[in-house]
Amino acid sequence: MFSIIEERASDRTTVEDLARLSLGNRLTDSPAARMRTGTDPVPGLSMIVLENDELVGTIRFWPLLIGSGTKAIQLGPMAIHPDHRGRGFARMLIRYSLDRAQSLGHRIAVLIGDHALYERYGFVPAQPLGITVPDIEDRERLQVLALAPGALDGLSGVVRGDTIPSLGDDRLLA
Ligand SMILES: CC(C)(COP(=O)(O)OP(=O)(O)OC[C@H]1O[C@@H](n2cnc3c(N)ncnc32)[C@H](O)[C@@H]1OP(=O)(O)O)[C@@H](O)C(=O)NCCC(=O)NCCS
Repeated sequence: MFSIIEERASDRTTVEDLARLSLGNRLTDSPAARMRTGTDPVPGLSMIVLENDELVGTIRFWPLLIGSGTKAIQLGPMAIHPDHRGRGFARMLIRYSLDRAQSLGHRIAVLIGDHALYERYGFVPAQPLGITVPDIEDRERLQVLALAPGALDGLSGVVRGDTIPSLGDDRLLA
């Protein structure tokens, strides 16, 4: 029996250990990681998968700006514990959290990752739209998704991290 719930303050260490185990150096040394530097996760969108009280999956989102200041959210890191991969948890976690982002009013999701993994959720390569990240080697890995109709229309420019008011965990997770 599994459930998808919002990450609680008490999950933080386990979530970060799982992300480190799954992503290694990419967790802190990558273009995606650099866009997360100095900011906090988007409130209400850090989700975990629990199975029999064991934390087996995590996804977080981070605030971004595109071009002249259009707000977006960055998906990642996402990680499923190695013992539980191939069971559809990532698919459920992504779908659930993107639906939730949409219902919270977020309009654009961005990520740096394998297109093969994310195209099924509607992500499209960002570069042909003129949406870029300066220091990314593999430019086709930058992908975007409109969460609201027309959200990407006419949008172009550089993607960068945003800052949001720094909230304590209790307030973030309230
Ligand atoms: C990538 C990861 C999250 C997938 O988790 P998972 O629970 O095994 O994935 P699912 O079982 O939900 O599979 C979802 C689908 O994605 C596919 N998939 C999984 N990893 C993939 C990859 N790297 N590239 C392309 N497709 C992939 C699966 O084959 C499956 O396809 P299907 O529905 O057609 O069978 C997991 O392997 C992981 O934690 N990897 C290490 C961390 C990582 O790379 N995170 C992503 C970048 S932040």
